[in-house]
Amino acid sequence: MPDLDYKGYLKLDELLKLQHPLADPPTHDETLFIIVHQVFELWFKLVLHEIDKIFEMLDNDDVIESERLIRRLTSIIRLFIPKLSVLETMMPSDFIQFRDRLRPASGFQSVQFRQIEFACGLKDRKYLGMFKNDPAAAARLEKRLAEPAFWEHFTALLHRRGYTTDTEESQRQGIVSIYKRDGEHALRVLCEAMIEYDEMFSLWREHHIRMAQRMIGSKTGTGQQLVESAYGKTSPMGSIGIEYLAQTLNKKFFPVLWAARTEM
Ligand code: HEM
Repeated sequence: MPDLDYKGYLKLDELLKLQHPLADPPTHDETLFIIVHQVFELWFKLVLHEIDKIFEMLDNDDVIESERLIRRLTSIIRLFIPKLSVLETMMPSDFIQFRDRLRPASGFQSVQFRQIEFACGLKDRKYLGMFKNDPAAAARLEKRLAEPAFWEHFTALLHRRGYTTDTEESQRQGIVSIYKRDGEHALRVLCEAMIEYDEMFSLWREHHIRMAQRMIGSKTGTGQQLVESAYGKTSPMGSIGIEYLAQTLNKKFFPVLWAARTEM
């Protein structure tokens, strides 16, 4: 058997054959668009991999290692922001040349993105509606819906350490006391890592909407029908392109951590 080499280990022959632009006639920027999205999906895969490890660490009461890996999550999400700027070198007029070929495909359909949201507590069943024809994706999401989310793993750890965690109010009081009490340094650092991760994710949402607005103005998103079928035009989530995205900006993974800040 030949020695393992770089491209064999990384499966580069397979990986580099996965870019298939659709525009006819071909347009230069579609390759950029495909690669940027594929790279994001690879990072989403790593985020999920890290999240599962963090859950295991929290369940094992390993505060220090959980905190270290949450900081890794934040580093990954922090990278998402400059990565969008690569796409922002595309002109709206360049995007228009292949955008119609994408319909109704949209980032809205990213199963991994939705798995991350579900794992981090944003469990919204309505998103399952768009995976009726993709049973494997629906099953992955159902699994995340049924499993404990990030906050449950964290509060279970607090409970094992003697904190009362049965209501949001008691959780909030517990967090405030972690910040005030001497000797809880490791838990305090863990809380800081979690809120930083949450903050960074919000910053990505913010940058994504600004980039989308810069690219398409107030045109509808390519996933418009999908958004409408999940939420309906009259839903408070809004339904169209930027309007839908604007409604997602207030999403938070750990609202109790944010609420506790008021009392610090
Ligand atoms: C030209 C660049 C882009 C534009 C104009 C754009 C636009 C949009 C729009 C309008 C939506 C709302 C759904 C819809 O109407 O289709 C959306 C959703 C989304 N996009 Fe993008 N996007 C772009 C690039 C990206 C990239 C590079 C990613 C990385 C994976 C991404 C990930 C997502 C995700 C995850 C959603 C769902 C967000 C949510 O439901 O909270 N988008 N995008």
